Amino acid sequence: MKKVIAIYPGSFDPPTNGHLDLIERGSKIFDELIVALLRNADKSPLFSLGERRLMLDSMTAGFRNVRVDIFDGLTVDYAARVKASAILRGIRAISDYEYELQMALMNRKLHPELETVFMMPAEKYSYLSSRLVREVAQLGGSIKDLVPEMVERRVKEKLDPAVKLQHARNPKAGKRK
Ligand code: PNS
Repeated sequence: MKKVIAIYPGSFDPPTNGHLDLIERGSKIFDELIVALLRNADKSPLFSLGERRLMLDSMTAGFRNVRVDIFDGLTVDYAARVKASAILRGIRAISDYEYELQMALMNRKLHPELETVFMMPAEKYSYLSSRLVREVAQLGGSIKDLVPEMVERRVKEKLDPAVKLQHARNPKAGKRK
C-alpha cells in the first residue's frame, strides 16, 4: 500500500507544547510526518532557523516516523518535492478557522491533489501560540508547561544572556529533579 506522507509546515518560533501535541497526533495517522520549518527572510524571528531546527529535532527525536526539514517558497511546491499528499495544520479555536480555510483553499487551487488535514490540539493548549509565549517570556512571565523544558531554557537564555553564562558554568543549575 502507498505510504501516506504529510508535512506540518510552520514558523515554530519557538515550538510549543501545542505543536508537540499536534506532531504526536499526526505521527499516529500518517506513515511519515515532516515538520517543515519555513525559511522566511521577511520576519525577524526570536530564534534563528538553526536554533529552531535544533529544538524541533530534540522534541521529535522519540518519534520514529517524524523528521524535521527546512523549506523555501510555496508550501505546495515543497509538499510535491517530498511526495507528501497532505498538509497538517492545527486549529485551536474558531478564530483560527478563517485564516486556515483561506490558506487551505489557496493551496488547493495551487495543487488540487494535496489535502489539508486539520487536527485539534488538546484543549489545554487551545489558547497557546508561539507569539504569546514570546510575549509572556519577554515581559518576565512564566512559560513553564507551555513549552518543553529544553525550549523554556533556550528562551530564557535568549532573553537573558546571563542565564546562558550561568548554565555554561553550572549545567545542572535550574534543572528540575
Ligand atoms: O506557523 P505559521 O506561521 O502559522 O505557518 C504559516 C505557513 C508557514 C504555513 C504559511 O505562511 C506558508 O505556507 N508559507 C509558505 C508560503 C506559501 O506557500 N504561501 C501561500 C500559502 S496559501
